[in-house]
Amino acid sequence: MKIGFLQFKPEFGKVKENISKIENMVFEKDFDLLVLPELSNSGYLFVSKEELEEYSERASDGIFCSSLLKICSQKKCYIAAGFCERAEEDETLYYNSSILACPESRYSLYRKIHLFYEESNFFTPGNLKYKVEKITGERFGEAYVGMMICLDWLFPEAARTLALQGAQIIAHPSNLVMPYCQKAMYARAVENGVFTITANRIGEDVNHGKEVTFTGESVMLNPRGKYLARGTKDTEELIIVDINPADADDKFINEYNHLFNDRRKDFYSIN
Ligand code: ACM
Repeated sequence: MKIGFLQFKPEFGKVKENISKIENMVFEKDFDLLVLPELSNSGYLFVSKEELEEYSERASDGIFCSSLLKICSQKKCYIAAGFCERAEEDETLYYNSSILACPESRYSLYRKIHLFYEESNFFTPGNLKYKVEKITGERFGEAYVGMMICLDWLFPEAARTLALQGAQIIAHPSNLVMPYCQKAMYARAVENGVFTITANRIGEDVNHGKEVTFTGESVMLNPRGKYLARGTKDTEELIIVDINPADADDKFINEYNHLFNDRRKDFYSIN
């Protein structure tokens, strides 16, 4: 199975330009599952609700999601990508969301639960539970994919919840500003025995006197902590690697120890 990330710099507020860039880059290579950064349609640094209203879209008919679905249908592939979502069920609510676009025009959504810093001034915290999707393809048969977004890395419960539901691959659209996540994803992969794909953005957003710089270095790991690919700090790049998703099904780390069965739930009180 060919999986990968597209690391790029979304231009703030330039949704059509961002779509064109993605369309140009994704046809360079063949893949089954590609992960794009958080807020790939709009860029990150919102300073007003009006901006968010302008750039957000419904997943069912927005131009960004529609263009991803079209790519997936043409290339017979899956794309997980962050975007700002106007909720179908209530047009006054905006979520920092991720779509898993599928080749048969189907999609599933995750809405970021752990909002970072000033995001909570604009976005509503996610209201959808972590879930795992079965995806299929001629090259790989079937695979199980779960999504989380950026700061979710800091809450190990997120990746654990997905892994316990059977995720073999965690798709992780990100806009990272601190240097810790890329290292922490090593632990998320190893402690859960899953593949992880963290697609980070590069460059900076500058808006009304505010500025934020993103750290690039997107990263893919296998269930035993092998780095499958690491992006640069500041280059737009599409990196694809070959994996066998079933490698994530073996949770034994030796003949005695099993990542899930050895958990001593009676001794944990984490709620
Ligand atoms: C983040 O959650 N975008 C750091």
